This record gives sequence, structure tokens and C-alpha cells, in this order.
Amino acid sequence: MKHAPRLSEQSHDIQGMLKSGFGWLKSSRFWLLTIRDGCEDQARAWLARLVESKLVVSARCVATAKTKPETSIGEAVSVAFSFAGLEKLGCTETATHPFPTPFRSGMGSTLREQLLRDAPRDQWRWSDVESAEGRQAVHILIAQWWDAAARMEEPDPAVFIVRVVDNNPCSFARDKDGRLREPFGFRDGLAQPVIRGLREEGGAALRQARNDAGRFYEDRVVEPGEFILGYRNEYDELTYCPNVNDWRHSEDRFTLNGSYLAVRQIEQNVDAFEQFRKAHGQDVCEKLMGRRKDGMPLGWQGPPGSDSAADAFRFRVEDANGFVCPKGAHIRRSNPRDSLGIDVRSSIKSSKLHRLLRRGRPYREKTEKGHRDGIFFIACNADLERQFEFIHQRWLQNPRFGTLDNQDDPVVGSQPSGKTFTIPGLPSGGEVTLASFTLTLGGGYFLLPGIAALKFIAADRAGTKPSSAHRVEAAAC
Ligand code: HEM
Repeated sequence: MKHAPRLSEQSHDIQGMLKSGFGWLKSSRFWLLTIRDGCEDQARAWLARLVESKLVVSARCVATAKTKPETSIGEAVSVAFSFAGLEKLGCTETATHPFPTPFRSGMGSTLREQLLRDAPRDQWRWSDVESAEGRQAVHILIAQWWDAAARMEEPDPAVFIVRVVDNNPCSFARDKDGRLREPFGFRDGLAQPVIRGLREEGGAALRQARNDAGRFYEDRVVEPGEFILGYRNEYDELTYCPNVNDWRHSEDRFTLNGSYLAVRQIEQNVDAFEQFRKAHGQDVCEKLMGRRKDGMPLGWQGPPGSDSAADAFRFRVEDANGFVCPKGAHIRRSNPRDSLGIDVRSSIKSSKLHRLLRRGRPYREKTEKGHRDGIFFIACNADLERQFEFIHQRWLQNPRFGTLDNQDDPVVGSQPSGKTFTIPGLPSGGEVTLASFTLTLGGGYFLLPGIAALKFIAADRAGTKPSSAHRVEAAAC
């Protein structure tokens, strides 16, 4: 049996966003780039300079920065490519190890439109697939986070069609402790799986997290192959790694240490949510989300605890009928924890097959009349069908989720205004009528390659003149 590489020996090659959401970097910007025809060489040269700038930090750099203040990170960049983008840059899949269908066809394809229950996508502004109306596919996604000042060389509009999704001014999405809040005012980015082998083993932070979560800590520890290609997953199999022609960097395949990103730009109708809040009260809003505004579970009493404590709960025994957290609440649909299988153990095991590492950030778009807010949602996963698409289609958008009927996710469902949401135990009879709170404006699937693969993409495809980036060693940390 083939052995998985040791994660600890590969962390220099894994992009930093698989290790961290860079929460201490307060500003973020997402660049959606389409390479103009005939500009492929300039695009590669720009990518090569980006790699040389060392802003594309590795998981190892992030780990080092946490322990040695002198290596602290003030700016970080991650780079990912759509299938169309890889092809545009000359990386074609091999016949023996092709890319999986969802990535290859793209979130923008008609099939994915139906699967994700998005139709019609009249409001979409961008996707990873060329649209029937001639809108060009996004080839490259750059995620940029920084603290004081950004150093990244901005992409040249003569080389790229550039779209920017920004969270400046960066302060609007933070609470007074500097922690992230989404535009409806809830703490976000809190419940995250812990990747086995990528956490700091034996450190004080891990001891504290274990302590705070108590017997529930292991519920969220997930095998690395659920998020990083080439490693053992929850089926105890090595995650499939597609390959591209001419990749000769090592015996391992091109996608080793990579991940897939499911990306959605979701606009939030903050006014509609505020009106709903005025009509029904904050408690009902918290029931829709399934958490208190400060991020703590609905049954939590007292002041907020740590993130680890906030993620330590189950539903099956403690809240079987949804009197605390309604069965259709956003967090219960997106992670049913121990509630869906035949017993606690098997349900936890099967929920680990459908986890997402969320790395999105709120954004603010300035308009003539003011601004519009939303979430630039990014989920990292190794299997788009089994993870992102399953959660979206079978849980969030499933009208018959659990014992419910004709409802979908109250926050991100595709429901038009007027759909209802059941809150067991509510004095008014248990049903509230929802408005349409969100609108998806675009989306795509991207490959987040390992750093050696990124250098390969940035190198001269003819192979005669390797760009300097291909020779650069991993960042010194
Ligand atoms: C505008 C859109 C969205 C908003 C406002 C939103 C908001 C939230 C909030 C406030 C939480 C609870 C805090 C936390 O656990 O971090 C949460 C959790 C979560 N959301 Fe969303 N979300 C949105 C879209 C989505 C989408 C599209 C998906 C997946 C397809 C998703 C998947 C999840 C997951 C997996 C969790 C963690 C649940 C858990 O483990 O308890 N969210 N979201």
C-alpha cells in the first residue's frame, strides 16, 4: 500500500491558508483575474514575481510565525486557478490522472447551476466558466490579507481583466475585540475542523483547546486528506491527486499538497435582516443562525468562552427536537454533527466526510447610494462533490432536510420571500416567515496548488527558459 507523505515534512509546500485564516491580518482583498488573450507570458511573469516576493506564505511559515515573533507575518497571499486558468497557462491534465468532473466543468456550468439550485443566475457577475453572453471565465483567484500596508504588486489591467472584492474599510466587520463578524452582525469563522497533523502538536494552545472542548474535542479533528490532496482521508484512503503533462518536479503528482476552493460571492440584504430583527427580535434571528450573536451556542449561559468551547456541543441527545437550536438553523444544516446517523459514533464519523475549512471574509462594495455588504465565501476541501456540493445541495438547500418539509436554509437558501422557518417551542405557533436575505453574485471552483506546483505554473511553459521563480526555494522560514 502506498504511504502518504508526512505532513510535517511537506508543510513548506502547503499554502498558508490551509493552516490559518490569517485572522490577525485585518484587511483582505480578493482579486478575480482573467488573462487577456496573448498575455499568457506576462501573466506567468507576474505570478513568478509574486512567488519571488515571498508573500505566498507556506503552512510552515505560519507555524513558525506563531512561535517566533520576529518572523511575524504582516501580509499573506494565496493563489488558486480555475480549470480554464490552468489550461490558459498551458497546464493540461494527463490522460491517466485527469481532474475530477466538478472542477473540470466549473461551478459556472449549467449542470452545477442545477445541482446547487442556483437557477436562474441572472445576477451573476463572474464565474469560472465563460458565459453564454460572452462574459469571460475567471482564471486566477488571488486572496490577499494584510495588516498595516499592502506590498503586493497589483495585477496590470493590460494583462488581466481585473475584478476586486474588497473589505475596506476593514473595520466594519470586526467586534470590539477585533474578531470577525459577518454583515448581519454574527461572529463568523468560528467552527472549523482541526486538520490532524497540521495543528501544533503538544503546544500550550492545543492543550488549552482540548481543555476547553473537553470530551467533544475529537469531534472536530479530521484526517488531512479531507482538505489536502495526497493524504489519508476519513475513508482511510489516499486522496486522489490529478496530474498535468510535463510535470517533472518530483515523483509525486502536480496536485500533491493542493486543495480545491469552492468560492461564492454572496450579497447580504442587511436592511431586510434588520427589518426581520425589528419584527421578530434578536432571539429569533439567533434561532435562524443557530448561534448567539457573540458566536456562542444557543444553550450557552453567561459571558462568551473561547472558540474551542464555542464549538463543543452535539445535538442528538442534548437537543433532539431542536428546542435549543432548530433543526433547520444554518449551523445545524451545514454541520448536523451527531444527529443524522443511527448512533452518535457513526453520525460523527459520517459528518466528518462533509466538513469544510472556511476561509471567506466579509466584503463591502461602494455604490453611488452607499454600500452593499456580503460574504466572499471560500471553502477549502479535497472532494468538491462529497464536501461542498453535498452540504449545499443535500443539507442547506434540501427542502426535506431531517424531518422538515418545504423549507431550506434560512440564510443562504434559494427560497423566495415568504418561505417559513420552524422554531419549536415558540409561543406564536412555531413558524416565522422569512425574507430573501442573500443573493449569490458569482462563484467558481479553484485549485489551490502546492507551492512547487505554483512555481511550475509560473515557469515558462516551453520549458526552454525556466523563470527565476521555478528555481526559488521555499520561503526561508
Ligand atoms: C451570506 C452567507 C452566509 C452567512 C451570513 C453565514 C453565516 C454563518 C455564521 C454566522 C456561522 C456561525 C459561526 C461559525 O460557526 O463560524 C456559520 C457557520 C457555518 N457556515 Fe455559514 N454563512 C453563510 C454561507 C454559508 C455557505 C454558502 C456555506 C456552505 C455551503 C456555509 C457553511 C457553514 C458551515 C459549515 C458552518 C459551520 C457550522 C458548524 O460547524 O457548526 N455558510 N455561517
